Order: sequence, then structure tokens, then C-alpha cells
Amino acid sequence: MKKTIIRIGERERKYVEEVLTTEFRSSSGCSMMSRLEKAFAKKFKVKYVLAHNNGTATLHSAMYAAGIRPGDEVIVPPLTMASTSMAVMQHDAVPVFADVCENTFQIDPVAIKKLITPRTKAIIAVSLYGLSPDMDLIMKIAKKHKLVVIEDSAQCFLGKYKGRLVGSIGHLSSFSFQASKHMSAGEGGVLCTNNQKMAERIRRFSVLGYADVSAKQGKITKDDIQNPNYNRHVCLGYNYRMPELCSAVALGQLEHLEELVQRRIDVANLFLKQMRGVDWLIPQATPVGYKNSYWSLAVRLVHPRIKWFDFRKKFMELGGDGIYAAWKLTYLELMFQHLNFSGKEEIYKKLYSDKMQKYQIGLCPIAEKIQPQILAFKTGYWDWSKAEIQAEILNKTIKFYEK
Ligand SMILES: Cc1ncc(COP(=O)(O)O)c(C=O)c1O
Repeated sequence: MKKTIIRIGERERKYVEEVLTTEFRSSSGCSMMSRLEKAFAKKFKVKYVLAHNNGTATLHSAMYAAGIRPGDEVIVPPLTMASTSMAVMQHDAVPVFADVCENTFQIDPVAIKKLITPRTKAIIAVSLYGLSPDMDLIMKIAKKHKLVVIEDSAQCFLGKYKGRLVGSIGHLSSFSFQASKHMSAGEGGVLCTNNQKMAERIRRFSVLGYADVSAKQGKITKDDIQNPNYNRHVCLGYNYRMPELCSAVALGQLEHLEELVQRRIDVANLFLKQMRGVDWLIPQATPVGYKNSYWSLAVRLVHPRIKWFDFRKKFMELGGDGIYAAWKLTYLELMFQHLNFSGKEEIYKKLYSDKMQKYQIGLCPIAEKIQPQILAFKTGYWDWSKAEIQAEILNKTIKFYEK
């Protein structure tokens, strides 16, 4: 029996208390955001870490850092949470959807290659469910065509790709601390890079275009603030800074990230054991040399007669606490079907008639085939006995259909 993990405990409370004690005054020397950035950089072996208020804002900043201009194309997978594409559109660029691999569910480098045009400027490689895409191939394509690679690692913490940490391979990498993620501060995220120029651009963009912020310094000084002649804003920016309270919780989470990730891996393995030999449940394949950090355990239900909804219903009847579905493919979401882009319609209607992919069934056939099959099991059980009970219920659900 594995021990119960306290997901949010003393460490997080201690840092939150520190922030509250300073009453948010940066003049008292407390800067949780900067402490978090330093600690994250050390753990993930990257030079620059820039904290944001969520993992969508990080992706938006990544677009600016990558030099994306209106109308540029950014290649993305359609099987992911929609923020990946929304960030592209928040920057008036065009998401181009590349199909995924049937076994790993990740963006397919062969599909990427076919979509490159003179307008392509970047690729967003999402580590879906905690597993890296094939980064060597993606980086090779990017090098050949001078593209920027952004790793969207919102769902992958301490995952590995051929010995390297996921999030330390692309030119930029984005992490989310939203409630369900491996490490959480309720909300929040960080954007990482080894490129100083990009880091400087990100900082300005994400803190209202302030002068005198820098890659490693997210706040301006007291003397500057109190100077009537100070030119504060040197460019247009967004207010994407991570709040101090969230930074405090994230710092605490980072200090025991290994146990938080390991628990998810252990739960995934426990569930996988129940499915062994069941040929109608096909788990996301983890290729040799990869380490899946199992944000969720994703499995394809391929039985000719058992329906997705019936399987979930039976699991719930037996006491299961839920099975998630994969997101609708982004281009099949209503915002794309109705071209409803919250005030940006004119930009996209022109592009759509001109040069954009048509957002319709058939665009990414493999993603369309597997999306409705995916059962995503929760892996965040901190009390091990609860994980064992859920595994037993899964076992009973499978036996019910096997008899
Ligand atoms: C793959 C992916 N990208 C981006 C995001 C956006 O992160 P956030 O919710 O922190 O904005 C999420 C998660 O929520 C995600 O799963």
C-alpha cells in the first residue's frame, strides 16, 4: 500500500503566509514570482522562466516571442485543449491543423511536413496526456524550414523524451498550473526558453510593455515608479503576470513535484494492469525511450458493440468516479464551424476564403477516428486506497463486458 500524498500542504501554506505577511508589498523584498522562476529554471534546466497567469497567456506570449505576424501560419494538432489554437488566433495568425499518430495520439511529423508553406512560421508540439511527441523529427523539420518550435507542455511535467526533459527541447515551452495539472496553483503557468532575446520580448509583452523589466526581472523598481518623468511603457503589452499568491502555491508544488508526478504514473500503471490482455481497450502507446507523465491515462475503446457512453455508464453504476472524453477536435468546435471569432471575423473571413484550410470533416481523418474512442481516466488519486478501489471497479466493468 502506497502512502497518502498531501497534494497541497505545509510548504504551500508557508509560502502563502509569507506573501500575506508582506501585504503584497514588493518593497518588503518578497517576490514569490521571481523565486518560482528561479526554482523552475533549475529543475527544468532552462535559462529563462517567465511566470504568467495561465497557460493560455503563455502561449500567446510565445507567439510574440516567436515573431509571428498577422496572417502567418502556425501548425498545431487538432486533438488538444482549444487554448493551443486560440493563442494563435489571439495573435491574428492562422492555426493549420496537422493530423495525429493513431498509436501515440500526438501530432504526426509526416503530416506537419505536408502542410509547410512560405507562410508557416512555427509549430506547436503538444505533449498530450503527459507524453512527448517525436521531438527529434519535429526539430529537424523546423531547422530545415527555419520554424520556431513551441512545446505546449501544459499536460506534461517531468516527462522524458530520449533522456531529455519534456519542455527543454523546443525553442519555447509552455506549462500550465491550472487546477487539474500535475502541479497546480489553481491557475498560472510559465513560459521557458534558453534564448535571451525571446525572454526579453516575453517579459515586456506579458507585463504591459514596461521599460526596465528584463528576462530575469519581472518588476520595475521603487525609484522608477516614483519618478514623474519615468517613461513606463515602451510597447503595447498584456497584463499576464502571475499573482504572488499563485506563485507561492506553485513554489510549494515544485518542491514535491516528483512525488506528484510519480503518483500519477503509479495510478496509470495500476489501471493498465486491469486492461492487460483486453484487445478492445488500446492504451496510448508510450514508445521506447519516452517517459509518459500520465496527466491522464488515455485509452481507445475499439469494441464493435460496446459504446463509449455505455462503458462509462456501467463504470459509474459500479461506483466509478468518472471517465473524461477527449476534447472535440478544435476545428470542429462551434467557434470554427460558425467562424465566430469574437470581433476578428473580418480578418479570418478574408483569410478563410483565401488560403485557410477548410474546417470540415475529413481534414484530419486519424484524429477524427480516435477522438470519439478515447476514455481518459483520472490519475490524480492522492489516497492510494481510492486508486485501488477505482482500479477494482474498472476490472469489474471490463469483466461485465467480457463474460
Ligand atoms: C494542452 C493544453 N494547452 C493549454 C492549456 C491552457 O492552460 P490554462 O488553462 O492554464 O490556460 C491547457 C489546459 O488547460 C492544456 O491542456
